[in-house]
Amino acid sequence: MTNKGIQQAGRAVVIGGGSGMGQAVADGLLAAGHEVIIVGRSEARLADAVRELGDGKLTAIAADVSVEEQVSRLFDTVGTVDHVVTTAADTTGVYGPIADYDFATGRGFLETKLIGSMLLAKHARLTSGGSLTFVSGIAAYRPAVGGAMVATVNAALEGLTRALAVELAPTRVNAVSPGWVVTGAWDNLTWDDKAERLRAMAERLPAGRLGTTEDIAAAVLSLIGNAFITGTILHVDGGHRLV
Ligand SMILES: NC(=O)c1ccc[n+]([C@@H]2O[C@H](COP(=O)([O-])OP(=O)(O)OC[C@H]3O[C@@H](n4cnc5c(N)ncnc54)[C@H](OP(=O)(O)O)[C@@H]3O)[C@@H](O)[C@H]2O)c1
Repeated sequence: MTNKGIQQAGRAVVIGGGSGMGQAVADGLLAAGHEVIIVGRSEARLADAVRELGDGKLTAIAADVSVEEQVSRLFDTVGTVDHVVTTAADTTGVYGPIADYDFATGRGFLETKLIGSMLLAKHARLTSGGSLTFVSGIAAYRPAVGGAMVATVNAALEGLTRALAVELAPTRVNAVSPGWVVTGAWDNLTWDDKAERLRAMAERLPAGRLGTTEDIAAAVLSLIGNAFITGTILHVDGGHRLV
């Protein structure tokens, strides 16, 4: 599988591959010659992504990463793979002040992003020297008011990354921590002055711009491709932690 520490193309599963960062990761993996299976809950979203990416090495399977029997069945179907990446997160109702927090809704983020990652670690069948890559986020370091659930889950996911890198070795386990990356998930923002606020956010960052899904995909591919990286959190945030 390795050639001087660099991983060769193989089979990869991308949970969340139907949109945003996950779709960009799938695109990058396909370009690197991997066979890719994208996973999400919405069959329509997956079908759109397959059409858009238009590659014969791409297939899709609908599954909910927060439901153990669906994760188990997913790996019964796909069998052994070289890499698993998850960008899946259900952000419905995740933001809100702790005093009024609606846990019934907000816990969907915990269950998709943290428990879902643990379910993948339990059920994925990975080749020796394969990898598992999670996506945490800047909120663990620069929490926003009303963002306690997001900050907590991202921080916990980074702890999980280190724990699994030890427990699952030689499988490599890493995480990318994105900063502000404009994806479809931002479409719900109802700011009146959205364009102005996005410009101000970009100016605040040392990088002078917001992130792209391709920035994140490149980071995921670098983690997957380097056989000597495990237990690492790779920050792709334009320097956000410093300001
Ligand atoms: N965008 C940012 O600025 C930013 C910053 C820091 C961290 N992050 C993190 O980066 C990751 C990706 O964000 P994104 O902006 O690319 O989000 P996105 O476009 O909303 O994509 C999330 C994907 O996850 C899938 N998904 C959600 N719940 C799922 C479930 N239970 N089972 C399987 N798939 C599920 C969704 O598809 P279905 O709905 O069809 O299932 C969707 O394709 C998230 O973990 C997010 O917290 C984002």
